[in-house]
Parts: sequence; C-alpha cells; structure tokens
Amino acid sequence: MSGPQRWDPARYAENARFVADLGQPVLELLAPQPGERILDLGCGDGALTRTLVARGCKVVGVDSSPEQIAAAQALGLDARVMAGEELAFDGEFDAVFSNAALHWMPDADRVLEGVARALRPGGRFVAECGGDGCVETIHGALIAGLDARGLDGRAASPWYFPTVVDYAARLARAGFEVPEIRLFPRPTPLPGALGGWLATFAESFTRVLPPEQRAGFLAEVEQRVRPTLCDAGGRWTADYVRLRFRAVRTT
Ligand code: BEZ
Repeated sequence: MSGPQRWDPARYAENARFVADLGQPVLELLAPQPGERILDLGCGDGALTRTLVARGCKVVGVDSSPEQIAAAQALGLDARVMAGEELAFDGEFDAVFSNAALHWMPDADRVLEGVARALRPGGRFVAECGGDGCVETIHGALIAGLDARGLDGRAASPWYFPTVVDYAARLARAGFEVPEIRLFPRPTPLPGALGGWLATFAESFTRVLPPEQRAGFLAEVEQRVRPTLCDAGGRWTADYVRLRFRAVRTT
C-alpha cells in the first residue's frame, strides 16, 4: 500500500516540537511587521502561525493534512486544508512564509507559481526547508532497506531536497529575485530515539511494506545508522541540511 504521509498531531508534538522551535532564524529573516498579511505555507499544527499572529500579523495557515489543520484551528487560527500545489490566492499577501514544509512538495514549480500568485507585487517569500543532502544517512538506510526487500526505495521517498542552484533557478522562473539563499548543515539533536523520528516522518517508506514487516524494518534502519548518529550516551542527532532563502516577487 502506498499513499501520502499521514500526520498524527499528538505524535508530532511529542517527537517533532523541535521543528517549530528551530524555526526562529527563518522567522527573523521574515521580519514580520504588525498588520502585514502573511500566508504560512505548510503550517502544520500552527506553532509558528501562532507566533506570527502574536506579532500582530494577519495570518492564514494552509496545510494538506486535515489532522494538523484541526490542531491549528483548535488554537483559534485561520487555518485551511490546502495543498501547496493548489494554492488558491490572488495578490492577497505581503509575504509567504514556510518552515520545514517545502521538501514535502516535490512539484516545486507548481508550488512557486501559486506562491507568486498569492503575493502582491513586491511581496516576499521567506522559507526554510530540507536541502540537498538532508538526513542523508537516514534517507539512504530507508532506501537501501526497501531495495534489499526487492522494492524501489527511492520511489517510496516523499522528500525533495533541492540544491541552491536548482531552487534559485525555479524561483527566478516563477518571477522572483533572490537576494539571499544558502545551504548549510544543521545537525539536529532529537528529543528521543530515532524510532520516534521514523514513526513521525517516515511513514511513506513503511506503507509499501505489509504491516507485519514494518516494525522490523524500522528497527533494522535504526541499527544501521546507530554508529553514525547515536553517541555513547544514547543521544541521537539527525544529519539535517537546511536550504534557507528570501525571495521577492518582481512583477
Ligand atoms: C524536516 O521537518 O525538516 C524534515 C522532515 C523529514 C525529513 C527531513 C527533514
């Protein structure tokens, strides 16, 4: 069985709160001003959307996960179920913001077309996502584990981790100037064992396996990457690489 990643807000809160916590630098790059109209693309459970609202912005959050949107709405946010490839806005926003979401949207050109359309001329798109080489050790082990079972591991991967050259070219084609874009490693300590991270983020890989094989597969992946990502004290650090940029709609 295959299909999109499903999100469980409780599990996300337990294993992935660091995603929003580590979003502060990209929020600072956005430099939101009170009264600005901002679209939070891939808002998840609304943790950063709420921060933007607290700074006096008028914010709409969108995410393809109905479960995450329900969690965001429970915070009192204007949050709507909408895929990044299906953005239905026209010149309404001063800025589009996105943290840790674009790498789940492989049709980047379609996303950027919708972002450009959503912005007023001169509006900015400020975002951070996984970039080229992100979680390479884990990603490689997931793919190799499926390949070893006679499946196509790469085809099961939901992630798109672009290079600077690739993403900057797509932004330019979509009508943006790109004053800032950079790729950098950000080793990320995990709140628990890798199993929690895999349960939260790697469902697209396990869904292609029969249910009775899934736990064994994830245990094998964890064992395979332990020498690289787990220290002698049992602390896990994921090999994140981030792509962070600020782009401005020119037309
Ligand atoms: C992230 O949330 O940034 C992320 C999720 C899955 C794989 C890599 C990065």
